[in-house]
Amino acid sequence: MNINELISKMTIKEKAALCIGASAWCTASVRRLGIPQIVMTDGPHGVRRVENIDEVQNIFSLTKSLPSTCFPTASAVACTWDTELLQRMGEAIGQECISRGIDILLGPGNNMKRTPLCGRNFEYFSEDPYLSGDLAAAFIKGVQSKGVGAALKHFVANNQEHKRHTISAEIDERTLREIYLTAFETAVKEAKPWAVMCAYNKVNGTYCSENNELLTKILREEWGFKGFVLSDWGAVYDRVESLKAGVDLEMPGPQKKSFKKLIKAIRNEEIEEEILDKAVENIIKAVIKSKKAEKKDTEFDQGFHHELARKMASESIVLLKNNNDILPLKEPKTIAIIGRAAKEPHIQGGGSSQVNPTNMDIPYDEIEKLAEQAEIFYEEGYTMDEKVDNNMIDRARNIAQGADIALLFIALPPYKEFESYDRDDMELTKHQIKLINEVASVQPKTVVILNNGSPVSMEDWIDNAAGLLQTWFMGQGGGKALADILFGKVNPSGKLTETFPMRLKDNPTYINYPGENDRVIYGEGIFMGYRYYDKKEIDVQFPFGYGLSYTSFEYSNLNVSSDEFKDIDGLTVEVDVKNTGKLPGKEIVQLYLRDIESRLVRPVKELKGFKKVELKPDETKTISFVLNMRDFAYYHPTYKDWITENGEFEIMIGKSSRDICLTKKVNLVSTTNLPCTLNYTSTVREWLDDEEGRKIIESLSEDIMSRKDFQRVSGSSNIDLWKAAKDTQLIFLLKQMSWAIPIVPDIIMSKLLAKVHNKRI
Ligand code: BGC
Repeated sequence: MNINELISKMTIKEKAALCIGASAWCTASVRRLGIPQIVMTDGPHGVRRVENIDEVQNIFSLTKSLPSTCFPTASAVACTWDTELLQRMGEAIGQECISRGIDILLGPGNNMKRTPLCGRNFEYFSEDPYLSGDLAAAFIKGVQSKGVGAALKHFVANNQEHKRHTISAEIDERTLREIYLTAFETAVKEAKPWAVMCAYNKVNGTYCSENNELLTKILREEWGFKGFVLSDWGAVYDRVESLKAGVDLEMPGPQKKSFKKLIKAIRNEEIEEEILDKAVENIIKAVIKSKKAEKKDTEFDQGFHHELARKMASESIVLLKNNNDILPLKEPKTIAIIGRAAKEPHIQGGGSSQVNPTNMDIPYDEIEKLAEQAEIFYEEGYTMDEKVDNNMIDRARNIAQGADIALLFIALPPYKEFESYDRDDMELTKHQIKLINEVASVQPKTVVILNNGSPVSMEDWIDNAAGLLQTWFMGQGGGKALADILFGKVNPSGKLTETFPMRLKDNPTYINYPGENDRVIYGEGIFMGYRYYDKKEIDVQFPFGYGLSYTSFEYSNLNVSSDEFKDIDGLTVEVDVKNTGKLPGKEIVQLYLRDIESRLVRPVKELKGFKKVELKPDETKTISFVLNMRDFAYYHPTYKDWITENGEFEIMIGKSSRDICLTKKVNLVSTTNLPCTLNYTSTVREWLDDEEGRKIIESLSEDIMSRKDFQRVSGSSNIDLWKAAKDTQLIFLLKQMSWAIPIVPDIIMSKLLAKVHNKRI
């Protein structure tokens, strides 16, 4: 039976029931017609499959789920900048879904890190949409290669947890397109997720779940999304409006009120039955896809996945500071390990993504294994509350003082990084700051190991730390991954995917976060993350794209396929990277673009390419990037499209966004045929910015200037007049002139408009 026949046999009640979850994690089944349920679960960095998943349960019970591999969370794995690894992690999680009877994984999360305070940043990849989009796409491809669906979430602009159910993200169209939608667009187009989960919040006053523009016009019609849209858990505020907008499935269920409302609305013809049918079709397609998929191996290899979790962690860890090559460790005889996170690592953040790990590497144990010759002293260092305890600090100081080196594990109290609320600040606890400074005052060889999901302020202590590692929420294999890096068995290769600002108040959202009266204004526009710090030339603690290695790299021979190119032809860029140090290592080569001149303001630089490359000492590899038209384009709200403009671009190749090693200018020839937008109220500047408009104004200017009567009344030279009038409406200027010379402004204006528009017809 084909889908249409199947739907034609369903009653309205069956259809409505299918569009509303039957339980916390399952859709309804229609046994009479052989339609089975779909089972979903969180996501994203492991499988949180609760026991008795078919039953109606309290979705807030986060405690018991079946064991599954806990991979590092998104803020960590993003720092690998390795799409192949992300895909492998997706495959492994897809495999675990099969073994747990899951049809759809609720992930990846692809929201932008607008503020470092967002309580859920550990679940998101980056502040950069280009990078996020590629990483999300790779992960989805991995999961779906196993015949399991991925639900890309949270669509869109759920960039803070503060008031997530009521807040309206007020975002101008260009910013929405260029920053907040792009990452989703890439993932949808490249990886074709089975599902997209709409967010809790509003965008420009309309709930995402009721936003036809986002869910239907952009997602389906423009991007070609073919899967089904489900709501975030409890994100439907009106089932009829949400169905109209494009939410196929309301989760979780059951929702008696929604069900009744939907049936009533269909019966009263408030909503056409075809809309319901379309939603049913989208869901049934996923059911069929899932049941038809060939699902191999119903068991997963726990050991193999644990190894992969270690690998992900070791490539995620970012070496931020390494004074005098303090790392890797040089066979210390005595090591002071301070900080409870050494024995109780924080492997993930709090909330719906929490999984129950199958295994756990403990950093302390792993260090002990690798430091066979060394004597280790341990102190807990701090408790998980915020009180300063001087006795603990004294004990830590004592062991640090007598040791060859101090490894100081710092983790924020877990309640600070949790879904559903944001952090209040970026600070470590007062006690932790004092602990770092006191330990470092007696032990110059102090390495701080940060174990958290988002950046923390470092101003008060960083100068005292000789070494600094950002290990993130490192997943269950993080302990061994970290020990391998400390002892040089693995060369660190992670780089930051978000800027670490010096101070919270440097962040672009500082005066526009968290918002008031249920509105948060994205006043920084497209200048979010490094786009802002670069534009304002603000010093940052660590820039986007930054990370150290135990070896060094040199870049040379930046070449392009052509110095002048048509946007539709794109451009190939090549660069040589050499390992100039003594150890094998991996480098993340970054390509940024700068549009030298454009009608609308553009960022100083934007990431448009990245590659991770492995090099032995002295080895050189040529890296190539293919840039396409979209990479050079920006979204122009007037034309409602991505456009390019003729002119120069600077290609920048860098080790980070603030360490650009090579640059080259190229000339783009645009094929964008922009419709003319000049109208009765356009300013002189707008006329001059338009290629045809400029010619018309120039000839008008000549005409007027050559008139004797005009010369008599006007002292101004041609140049002065047009310069001074740049931001004046042309019609207003003509009217002013008409006081002095006999012209009829409206007639001139209509002639000019006819001329400029006719040119393009
Ligand atoms: C979260 C989603 C999650 C869902 C189910 C919601 O509160 O925002 O990310 O998938 O719960 O647990």
